[in-house]
Amino acid sequence: MATHLLAVKYLNSLTWQNLIQDSLRFHKDTFNYSVTQKNKHAALLFLEPSTRTQMSFSMACHKLGLSTHYLNAGQSSLAKGESLKDTLLNLEAMGVNVAMVRLKEEKLLETIAKELTTMSLVCAGEGKISHPSQALLDACTIFEHFQKLDGLKILFLGDIEHSRVYSSNIEWMPWFNNQLFCVSPKTNGLLDIQTQKIITKDWSKELSEFDIIMMLRPQLERSADKEHFDPEKYHEIFGLTEERFRNIKSRAIFMHPGPFYPNVEFDEKLLSHKSFKIYRQVELGVFARMSLLNFVLDRRNE
Ligand code: CP
Repeated sequence: MATHLLAVKYLNSLTWQNLIQDSLRFHKDTFNYSVTQKNKHAALLFLEPSTRTQMSFSMACHKLGLSTHYLNAGQSSLAKGESLKDTLLNLEAMGVNVAMVRLKEEKLLETIAKELTTMSLVCAGEGKISHPSQALLDACTIFEHFQKLDGLKILFLGDIEHSRVYSSNIEWMPWFNNQLFCVSPKTNGLLDIQTQKIITKDWSKELSEFDIIMMLRPQLERSADKEHFDPEKYHEIFGLTEERFRNIKSRAIFMHPGPFYPNVEFDEKLLSHKSFKIYRQVELGVFARMSLLNFVLDRRNE
């Protein structure tokens, strides 16, 4: 049976830590760990737009020696009505070893995975529910900075309702005894995720409490009332302004999965501050995806 990676919740804390160690080892010494999957084939099916995930999976494949094959959905038989299941069964029949899929539909990959025998499926972003490779690169960024994954106070700031990045991160963060909070357009203040209690209405006064502030983009493509979105108002209520930024812990880090809207989730001037890890996340993403691909292709289940 092929090993799939559809969600973080199917892994455990030990596997997660091993994946992080592998990712950081790849990052430190790519040359020694490259081309371990030579002569294998990877297919990339992005049925929703992507820059970071698609390009870094592609780079990860090349570093591992996998040959890459891109399905342009609009020019494929999906456009004639062929189902995603049949598309993937055809790729498996051709000898593809691993397929990375991004899609809007939720739970469909789980159903399809049951039909596959030799080809691994890797979720590259699924509706609002799953984005495991993003969660792994986020965990790598956190571990690299703090040298630990536990005992951290973490704030999700932004549109958690539509965010698969949020969904995947809150699958691993509780394994390590972290305290999780959020502020979003749907909460009336700072919410303790674990107790579901509102701590205060003025979240910005509590900023100095957090080790990690993970900002999330307003996901307009998944929002029912996107016509009424007011970027200036959003920035005023949920944005990390320079003024709010003055009130942070010295070791705190700011993360964002990208893409971001300039001067909406945060003042763009802050981007070059050393505590902003946005491009470091992208950098580590290539190596996190190498370790995920090795994990499914080597059928490792610790
Ligand atoms: N973070 C993320 O998933 O970015 P892309 O949509 O560009 O892949």
